[in-house]
Amino acid sequence: MVKTNKRDLVRAAAKARQGAVAPYSKFKVGAALLTRSGEIITGANVESASYGLTCCAERVALFNALTAGKRDFVAVAVVARAPGGPMPCGACRQLLAEYAPRAKVWVADTRELHVLREFSVRELLPAAFVEVPEDSD
Ligand code: THU
Repeated sequence: MVKTNKRDLVRAAAKARQGAVAPYSKFKVGAALLTRSGEIITGANVESASYGLTCCAERVALFNALTAGKRDFVAVAVVARAPGGPMPCGACRQLLAEYAPRAKVWVADTRELHVLREFSVRELLPAAFVEVPEDSD
């Protein structure tokens, strides 16, 4: 991995969290993706009055990165005020399995950003569905 270290990425996620739009849950989450070339792309959760439309920080970051042409993610940091850090939801795990399968996942509580828990995407979503089979008629 390039120069960017865990601390930089977690800090970027904490900064992105300030942009969260979470008027319903009040639970603000920030995420930061790191590309192999050292770029950081961030996102924060955005909620809707139609609750199910809410988009998590991880997916906002991922969509932001993907639509800017970024690929090859080596890590993603996710932070919120939550004991042990926020665990990505199932929907985000699916998207990470598809677009950031080799990324390390670091989660941290905003109150102790230096304490990181690390997971692999594979362990968060084993045996993921990542490809629609061709000729599945
Ligand atoms: N949320 C995230 O953004 N990421 C997670 O890893 C867990 C949950 C958001 C979605 C919603 O806006 C709020 O947290 C409460 O579920």
